[in-house]
Amino acid sequence: MRILFVCLGNICRSPLAQGILERKASMQGLDWMIDSSGTGHWHIGESPDPRTLKIAKRYGIDIGSQRARQFKREDYLQFDLILTADDEVHREVLSLAPEQALTSRVRTMVSLLDDTQYREVPDPWYGGEKGFEEVYRLLDEICDALIARVIPSNESAR
Ligand code: 4NP
Repeated sequence: MRILFVCLGNICRSPLAQGILERKASMQGLDWMIDSSGTGHWHIGESPDPRTLKIAKRYGIDIGSQRARQFKREDYLQFDLILTADDEVHREVLSLAPEQALTSRVRTMVSLLDDTQYREVPDPWYGGEKGFEEVYRLLDEICDALIARVIPSNESAR
């Protein structure tokens, strides 16, 4: 599986999602290719936001080597699953599809949850650190749901 998380800046939500899923996949022995990107260009080449680095570290995940990059049309051919953080990002990603058939690879991150009140992964950029905690928990749930889809329940319980 090749999975790409996409948010707006690629410095808060999608780098965290990448870090969380990389750890879960490796713990399950899954050889997945996991990456993240942003629809915006403002932070290209930057490290994740200090608040993102801090929350990841609190949960034992080091995402310090990630650098922001912009989502590009070619990503449609490189990834099997493209997971978007919010409606704005979702629309932008769909608008860049090289062909209509490939849009079936795009899903919102929250759509992986069977039962949730969230319509989007909230953008924590303008808020305080509390928002990052909320985002971490939501992304952790989303990554668990993704892993559970590929591993039979008796196996994932081990
Ligand atoms: P992200 O958060 O999309 O989760 O990385 C944001 C980061 C930067 C901006 C917006 C959202 N920005 O406007 O620069």
